[in-house]
Amino acid sequence: MSALAFHNTAFKRIGDLMYETVGLSFHESKKSLIHSRLAPRIQKLGLDGFDEYISLLEDESQAMEFQMAVDLLTTNETYFFREPKHYDLLQDELGTWGNRRPIAVWSAAASFGDEAFSTAMLLADMQLVGKISPEWSIVATDISQRVLLSAKEAIYPMDRLRDVSPERLRRYCLRGFGPSEGQVQIQDKLRERVQFGQLNLCKPFDGLGPFDAIFLRNVLIYFDPPTKADVVDRVLSLLRPGGLFFLGTAEGRVPCKTPIKTVIPGAYRKAA
Ligand SMILES: C[S@@+](CC[C@H](N)C(=O)[O-])C[C@H]1O[C@@H](n2cnc3c(N)ncnc32)[C@H](O)[C@@H]1O
Repeated sequence: MSALAFHNTAFKRIGDLMYETVGLSFHESKKSLIHSRLAPRIQKLGLDGFDEYISLLEDESQAMEFQMAVDLLTTNETYFFREPKHYDLLQDELGTWGNRRPIAVWSAAASFGDEAFSTAMLLADMQLVGKISPEWSIVATDISQRVLLSAKEAIYPMDRLRDVSPERLRRYCLRGFGPSEGQVQIQDKLRERVQFGQLNLCKPFDGLGPFDAIFLRNVLIYFDPPTKADVVDRVLSLLRPGGLFFLGTAEGRVPCKTPIKTVIPGAYRKAA
């Protein structure tokens, strides 16, 4: 743990900045987390302490540093086919829709793209056997430019694909050799189906949707209750009636005004 002093005023100022700008909410219990995540950065930049770092975060010409702080304060943990029952449900559901209508899916806190490419594998498989229309697409967004840049490259350590079947690995991935041993890259035929873009869920979003299924998994933990409800309602406004909405199973049901019904834990259907 770094020895940099972190007084309550600095904690409050960073908390306010993160809340006002990106909707991230930090309870007092998170003070040591903020300290441990930001102190190494402050030292790396050769700054005197938190006050100097806050001045940097407040300086609009230092947007890159602000982005870096957001990255350090959030967690990007993700992996392929996380919560497999959600993908099983999506597959069953899409199978009943016939193969005439285009399908659009949104991964709304996509992190490194594992969720989007898992969905792409599933849809590509369904297209192969004629169960869905060839016209399907996935939009994948996140607030972090760093994860999006990596997602666009679509290179992953094998461990993150531990739940991908050998058939899918053969069909959709390229295995690295030599210095890239232990890594895989998603093939172009899937990469071209996924459109990555930066989006802050706490700000208005226009020009998106409508979608047939939306993943909003493991991101609401960063928001306070009113922000959670607002984000969920705005996200749900882009879901077609009858469409599927996924949250992280551990997140529980989030209060929202839009009528939704639980299908399985963490998966909901918007009222038709
Ligand atoms: C733990 S990851 C979830 C990844 C994936 N959905 C999953 O469940 O495996 C949370 C992601 O939310 C993103 N995030 C945090 N605040 C956000 C915001 N205000 N708008 C959009 N994305 C945000 C983070 O950058 C991070 O990549």
